[in-house]
Amino acid sequence: MEVIIRPTTKEAVNLTARLIAAAIRRKPFFKLGLATGATMEAVYADLAAMNRAKEVDFSRVVTFNLDEYIGLPPEDPNSYRYYMNRNLFSKINIDLGNTNLPDGMAKDEIAEGQRYEKAIRDAGGIDLQLLGIGNDGHIGFNEPISSLGSRTRSKALTPATYAQNSVYFNPPDSMPKRAFTMGVGTILEAARVVMLITGKKKAGIAAKAIEGPITAMVTGSALQLHPSTVVVLDEAAASELKQTEYYNWVFANEPEWKPYR
Ligand code: PGA
Repeated sequence: MEVIIRPTTKEAVNLTARLIAAAIRRKPFFKLGLATGATMEAVYADLAAMNRAKEVDFSRVVTFNLDEYIGLPPEDPNSYRYYMNRNLFSKINIDLGNTNLPDGMAKDEIAEGQRYEKAIRDAGGIDLQLLGIGNDGHIGFNEPISSLGSRTRSKALTPATYAQNSVYFNPPDSMPKRAFTMGVGTILEAARVVMLITGKKKAGIAAKAIEGPITAMVTGSALQLHPSTVVVLDEAAASELKQTEYYNWVFANEPEWKPYR
C-alpha cells in the first residue's frame, strides 16, 4: 500500500483524477471500477474537464460501478445509475452501453450478483478500481462483518450508512435499507486500487483502515492484502495517521510520483 497526503482536498481530488487518466492513456481498452458518494463528485468533475481538454479519451473504456440500491430504478434521482449519468457519463465521451451497474430492480438477487460477477470476468477483470470509504469503514457497501472473501451480492445497510446517506433522500426514510455491492473479494481482484479519503470526519476510520489490523469490522482494511493499492488523502483525513513522515518521504523520493509532486 502507498499513502499520498496532499495539503488540500482539491489537490487530493486532482491527483486521484490524474492517476485514473494516466492509467487510461496507457491502456485505452480500459476496465474502470467506479464509486459514488459525495467525495467522488469532484473527481468526476476533474475527469470531465480533462476529457473536454482532450487529455483523456473514454471512447473505449468499460466501467463497473461498485454498488446500487435495491428497489431504485435507473431514473430515480437517488439511484447510483442516475448519479453516474449526471456526474460523469453525460459529461464524457463514453459509450453508455459500456457502463455497468448492478440492476437495483433485479427480481432474483442471487442471480443478479452472479450476473455482475460474470460480466466483470467476461470483460477481463477490472484494471483500476476507484474507492471511497464509508464512516463505518465500508468499501462498496461491504458493511462491518462482511466476509473478506465476499462476491457481488445483496447486503443490509448499517445504521451508520443509513445516517450518512439518508440525508440525500426526501423524505430521509425513503432510503432503501439494502443494496447490491461488489464483494471485498471482487474488489481485491482489481489489478490496481485507488482510494480517496477526504475531510476531518474520515480521519479516524482512515487510520483504522490503513494502519489498523485487517478486520472484517473495517472492510477497507482488507486493502492491506492488495498488492497495488494507493490511498490518497487530504491533510484533514490524514490527521490521525501515525506514519505520515514515512508516507511523505516515499512520495517525495519515489520516481513514480515525480509527475504528481
Ligand atoms: P462519501 O461516501 O463520499 O459520501 O463520504 C463514501 C462511501 O460511503 O463509500
